[in-house]
Amino acid sequence: MSKQTPLPFADAQTGLHVLQALLQQRSLLAALETMHAEVGDIFQVTLPLFDPVFVTGPENNRQLLVTGRDQFNWRTESDAVTKLLGHGLLVEDGGNHACLRHQLDPALSKKQVAGQIGQMVAETDRVLANWPADGERDMLVEMRKVALLILMQTLFGVDFLPHLERLWQPILQLLRYISPGLWIIWPEMPRPGYAQAQQAVDDYLFGIIGERRAAGDTGDDMLSRLVRLPEMNDKLIRDQLLTIMIAGHDTSTALLAWVWYLLGSHPAAMARAVAEVEAVVGQEAGGITAVSLPHLTYLDQVIKETLRLYPPIHVGNRLTNCPVQMQGHTIPEGMRVMYSIYLSHRHPAYWDEPQAFQPERFGREADGGKKRPSFTYLPFGGGPRNCIGAAFAQIEAKVVLARILQQFRLELLPQEVHPHMGATLEPRPGVLMRVIRKQ
Ligand code: HEM
Repeated sequence: MSKQTPLPFADAQTGLHVLQALLQQRSLLAALETMHAEVGDIFQVTLPLFDPVFVTGPENNRQLLVTGRDQFNWRTESDAVTKLLGHGLLVEDGGNHACLRHQLDPALSKKQVAGQIGQMVAETDRVLANWPADGERDMLVEMRKVALLILMQTLFGVDFLPHLERLWQPILQLLRYISPGLWIIWPEMPRPGYAQAQQAVDDYLFGIIGERRAAGDTGDDMLSRLVRLPEMNDKLIRDQLLTIMIAGHDTSTALLAWVWYLLGSHPAAMARAVAEVEAVVGQEAGGITAVSLPHLTYLDQVIKETLRLYPPIHVGNRLTNCPVQMQGHTIPEGMRVMYSIYLSHRHPAYWDEPQAFQPERFGREADGGKKRPSFTYLPFGGGPRNCIGAAFAQIEAKVVLARILQQFRLELLPQEVHPHMGATLEPRPGVLMRVIRKQ
């Protein structure tokens, strides 16, 4: 097929349906689902100045992430995320990417993370200490606090609580900066407030790098490991810290907030999770260990099902570096390609009742024993660019959920919640819950 051969896109009728989805459901995700249902696993969005190709389904995912990965780059200089993260792992390609990955991997190994469970419990407790005996909390806010404190303590070896309030708005500002927006078609658009936010976060990060260098520390957290590497200057370390801080806390925040929303709206699932936590880890903080966590099998299914329905990274972004053959079509060089994790996770060919919350589908006998093809379920991506923090995120989620369920009863308050495409797919405007401390 030549470059002129159009990729599948919406005909007039599908265009009308997409418009209806947009107007009625006011959701870009609903529009994408309509495109997928009517056009297929590969389709092009044909908007003025924005014409990415969306791909989904196990075969296309595998090609993009593994077999054909060398035909796709990550880095796009004009993208806000590249401007923010500089030479961070997330936005590097080729040899630089492989080298950084090798340097960062040890601090996020499963073994290393298993040794941090006690710290994760302790940081969760610091947030819970401020919860009322019986009152309301927005779980989107509370889970962000927990995720930030845990990440900064375990991976950077710093107590972030004294800085949380001061850096809260700057961090949210940086997240807005990289969220989808007009900048995609207008990279030079003015972004008021952003420079100050970046300055505030940078000052903090360069500060902890300097302190760690001065301390000549021999610790095994990520920051200590990075400052010991002779090839790493402060700016390169800052790029990795900011990458990990952003990628590692906003995703966990979204996951945990969605778990609360889904458990809150499915009381039977909540009751089962509570019963399992009581039976497996009891009431004491010390009950949550590397040995007990794997026995929280239902909680594990709840986390997996939440990641299926609301994958925090719902789409992965690439740029073709040559013409790419995919599903019988030619994607031209230099084209933005997005692999949609969200659409893969709700693909009717691979999931029974894809829109339903059914944690049991991840049980051993799930889906009548049907084995789903790999790359159908990929909340952490796949191949050499898969999520470096996947082990950390899964252990952390279980620890935080178990610790909260040990100490509190939670009830969802009546509210409208919708998935918002920010830096991650998060529940907006938040997840309001009544929290009641157990006696
Ligand atoms: C529920 C939590 C998380 C989810 C759902 C998630 C999801 C993902 C996905 C889908 C990718 C691949 C994106 C792509 O192919 O373009 C990715 C990459 C990445 N994630 Fe995560 N992530 C989570 C937590 C974390 C944590 C805790 C960290 C760090 C502590 C982290 C750091 C990163 C980094 C640095 C990359 C880029 C890896 C590379 O390019 O080699 N993530 N994540």
